[in-house]
Amino acid sequence: MSAFELEAVVAGYGGRAVLHGVSLSIAANGSLAVVGPNGSGKSTLMKTAVGLVRPTSGRVLLEGGDVTRLDAPGRARRGLGYVPQEANVFRNMSVRENLKIGLEFVPGRVRASFAQRLSAMLELFPELEPKLGTLAGHLSGGQRQMVAMAAALMPAPSFLALDEPSAGLSPRNAALLFEVIGRVARYGVTLLMIEQNTRLGLGAADEGLVLVSGEVKAKGPAAGLLDDPQMRSLYLGSR
Ligand SMILES: Nc1ncnc2c1ncn2[C@@H]1O[C@H](COP(=O)(O)OP(=O)(O)OP(=O)(O)O)[C@@H](O)[C@H]1O
Ligand SMILES: [Mg+2]
Repeated sequence: MSAFELEAVVAGYGGRAVLHGVSLSIAANGSLAVVGPNGSGKSTLMKTAVGLVRPTSGRVLLEGGDVTRLDAPGRARRGLGYVPQEANVFRNMSVRENLKIGLEFVPGRVRASFAQRLSAMLELFPELEPKLGTLAGHLSGGQRQMVAMAAALMPAPSFLALDEPSAGLSPRNAALLFEVIGRVARYGVTLLMIEQNTRLGLGAADEGLVLVSGEVKAKGPAAGLLDDPQMRSLYLGSR
């Protein structure tokens, strides 16, 4: 059984479809990177996955259960974690407070105490330990993304959605962040990420999907897409 699935999803805004029958599935603890040109519908796909856009037809399945009609908080209670592209931390609060809010955001999802979840997160992100008292707004962009992921993982979701995690980071910091995302992927959560940086995104995921004009142009093992000469010339630059 797949941990997460979109089944022939048609979705858009104000009666105009942006996604024209998109299907995908992610195995439990697997990872999928969605890449594609600007305006191809990547963010719309993400919003449909997390419950911010309602499909006009098709289904969204989380661990085999139909969540198409659940809103975003309902999906969070069912184990879906989400890191939006922007405004994903409270900048005027400390890292510790951000993690506390992350846990309280999905009440009743885990029995573990704040201290237990905090220590699990510090094991995964040891870089955050010396920063617990620092205001999130005083961190670097890469550190803030780490806080946002840790906060989303506090309620122990089974599925994590990352919207353009490297947006706004320098190439060097983006590469460092993807090392951390690799850690998250190995930690035991099913991962869906949308990434503008095709190489980094496909490099960090098991599977890749190329979305063009709201349609799936290619999908398969991420390494295979990276090596495919046609994919490289069309979407990855000719390096
Ligand atoms: N809230 C909205 N209302 C109306 N149309 C929208 C809305 N959001 C996006 N669109 C339109 O949907 C299409 C796909 O946009 P989307 O943001 O999903 O693409 P994207 O692949 O994420 O692009 P980018 O790489 O630039 O982030 C675009 O034509 C866009 O103008
Ligand atoms: Mg987008």
